[in-house]
Amino acid sequence: MDTSTQYPEHIPVLRDAFIDAILSDPDGHYVDCTFGRGGHSRALLARLSSRGRLLALDRDSDAIAVGKELEQQDERFTICHSDFAQLSATLDGEGWNKVSGIGFDLGVSSPQVDNAARGFSFRYDGPLDMRMDTENGQPLSDMLDRVSERELVDLLRSFGDERYARRIATAILKARRSNTLNSTADLENICFHAVPKQARYGSTHPATRTFQALRIWVNGEMDQIDAGIHAAVVHLKPGGKLAIISFHSGEDKRIRDLIASEVRPCTCPPEMPICVCGKKPTMRWLQKKPVRADEQEISSNPRSRSSMLRVAQRLTDEEAAKQAGYSVGQQ
Ligand SMILES: C[S@@+](CC[C@H](N)C(=O)[O-])C[C@H]1O[C@@H](n2cnc3c(N)ncnc32)[C@H](O)[C@@H]1O
Repeated sequence: MDTSTQYPEHIPVLRDAFIDAILSDPDGHYVDCTFGRGGHSRALLARLSSRGRLLALDRDSDAIAVGKELEQQDERFTICHSDFAQLSATLDGEGWNKVSGIGFDLGVSSPQVDNAARGFSFRYDGPLDMRMDTENGQPLSDMLDRVSERELVDLLRSFGDERYARRIATAILKARRSNTLNSTADLENICFHAVPKQARYGSTHPATRTFQALRIWVNGEMDQIDAGIHAAVVHLKPGGKLAIISFHSGEDKRIRDLIASEVRPCTCPPEMPICVCGKKPTMRWLQKKPVRADEQEISSNPRSRSSMLRVAQRLTDEEAAKQAGYSVGQQ
């Protein structure tokens, strides 16, 4: 079957850097937590031996349909309809206790954004949905009917860095109450007119940040990241590697802080000469400063422009014990 039209393409971002980051043992077991259209999964499979195994998950059923086809073609590969919050349960259910590498390529795929019916984009008219998993959760339309103005302002600021959060939130709720906000085209129009005239024609469309913030909210993406990273740390074997690609500063900051709390978990006050809290490090940074796409990749795939890759590694027991002896002053 030709799947190219049924399942449109997604160009994997930072593909080689991502695979190099998580691959340590070609015979190992690996997890791709964001299958999408399988760009990273296929690149990883190409570098695994016949003994290597890859389990991928995605919360989107269109992605799962593509994964099912790959499952038929490659016996080393398994796909699961799951999300980051269920990562531990999914791995336990498959009998995968400890793995050699886990990767996350966050956000939405191009086929999700380009499908008007999913409601992710202000460039197409579609329903107010924005769910990655259309079988679970509430669409944006329902969530907007329950949100307070205060909450909406806060989430536009924290998930979208939206400067005009208050004006946009007020306009959204007013339109929703008067039944004039029923589609993504309505939402785009509301954002456009809510911002001051001088902010309407810049390089970024005035609806960009609002759409991003609402998508993160609808999909509980920040909580998902927290759950995913915690599960990954538990399921990595000593020496196993964690690679995460994110696309905006709020996500990247969350990832950095979560990993930092595994690298330096000590909560003793800085004036303590040695650590007494007993919290042991579990990870070390391999790539603390995010890797970014180069000009060549950005020109062939503009979506890669904002990508940031961070990489960390699970400590061996000996390394963790040695690190736990560090003095507070070394933090
Ligand atoms: C950027 S795309 C991944 C593209 C993929 N690396 C590729 O090369 O085709 C992100 C994918 O992750 C999925 N996703 C995002 N958040 C998720 C979550 N919390 N749990 C499971 N899947 C998630 C989305 O549905 C989407 O298919």
